[in-house]
Amino acid sequence: MKVEGIVAGLDLGSTRTCAIIGQVTGDVRVSGVKVLGVGVSRETGVRRGVVRDIEETTRSIVDAMRDAERMAGVQAPDLYCGIAGEHIQVRTSDGLASVTGEEILRADVERVNEVATAISLGPERDLLHSIPQEYKVDAQDGISDPVGMTGLRLEVQMYLVSVQTAAAQNLRKSVQRAGYRVQQLVLEPLASSLAVLTQEERELGCALIDLGGGSTGAAIFKDGKVQHVMSLPYAGSHLTSDIVQGLSVTQVDADRLKEKWGVAYTPLVDPDESISLPSTPGQGVRQAKRELLAHIIHQRLDEILGLVQDEIEKRGFAGNLPAGIVVTGGGAHLPGIVELAREAFATPARVGMPHQGISGLVDSVQAPRYAVPVGLALFAAHETLQSAADTASGVERLISPVKRWLQDFF
Ligand SMILES: Nc1ncnc2c1ncn2[C@@H]1O[C@H](COP(=O)(O)OP(=O)(O)OP(=O)(O)O)[C@@H](O)[C@H]1O
Ligand SMILES: [Mg+2]
Repeated sequence: MKVEGIVAGLDLGSTRTCAIIGQVTGDVRVSGVKVLGVGVSRETGVRRGVVRDIEETTRSIVDAMRDAERMAGVQAPDLYCGIAGEHIQVRTSDGLASVTGEEILRADVERVNEVATAISLGPERDLLHSIPQEYKVDAQDGISDPVGMTGLRLEVQMYLVSVQTAAAQNLRKSVQRAGYRVQQLVLEPLASSLAVLTQEERELGCALIDLGGGSTGAAIFKDGKVQHVMSLPYAGSHLTSDIVQGLSVTQVDADRLKEKWGVAYTPLVDPDESISLPSTPGQGVRQAKRELLAHIIHQRLDEILGLVQDEIEKRGFAGNLPAGIVVTGGGAHLPGIVELAREAFATPARVGMPHQGISGLVDSVQAPRYAVPVGLALFAAHETLQSAADTASGVERLISPVKRWLQDFF
């Protein structure tokens, strides 16, 4: 059954596929989602944001969507689908337009935005998001919304996020094969930020870090805007490989040990505590210090967070993010992750639980690994309300959804 005001978010992760179906709540200014259905498939043909096996990916989408639809009792509309991975590229681009009227109109802003985005991104690349950073009217800079101002010369600095065409196409294809359509692709750490960050954190400055299975995504916010995004090819699966090596266990057992006994910050573990290790008949009964497991995880995570910190420094945000670090994704489930992040970045840190703007089956998504799919559903809700408001006010949206400026959101 198709119902009005229903939205769906689909997170195609490296370790699981998660679908969320919800009902749009609120209005354009304060939008939200009432969660109606959640579906998770442990199978996934996606590795680090790229479809490696289209059949398996399609199957996982079918499974996750079927469960979510059953729980919700409604059929999903077109999907808002997450995208991530090393193929993500970012750059800034400037635009300039002259103002002919008495004051700057919305159309002038759209025009200068168009100029800044009409650049070549290189072969085989698609524009994913264009985010206006700031506007300049004549000599005055630092303007966030120039509509209504007087001036002759309007400039914009735009932050552009692009993806590999083939990566985006394969995601769309898998979704289509599963019987759905992609309404829009959304960068995963940005989706995640919608579910967990407060307005104050974005304003003061903070970094969101999504510690996934195959990749770690991050987004830096300052002055209410996204300033930079990144994707690193290291995450939970690397912790697992280290445990396989360090404790001579299988990959499945290493994952289990990590999720049951893993700690991200060694000083939190009692040096006398031991854990039983799975063993082959030949190995006999085996034990290991829990401290050793923690040490393996601590070291690798410290290295991954160090790479994020390097990027923060390179972009000039070191010592300039007073709201600190917010961690989401499966890795955020590790005890001690907050202590580790606090030490690695020398800032405050917290775990990001999806809570903002959601109602309904909140308990089903109350974990940091649901930040991306919840954020996708929230993004979908906002876009749906925005389109409805535009139609109601008679504004003809000439801009395709992909080219919509993300200024109201990020
Ligand atoms: N309780 C836990 N303790 C430690 N690690 C955990 C826990 N739960 C999940 N993980 C780890 O988190 C990772 C999965 O995280 P998540 O579900 O965010 O990834 P994903 O979205 O599938 O992957 P990606 O975003 O990288 O494509 C796995 O490596 C898993 O072992
Ligand atoms: Mg993920």
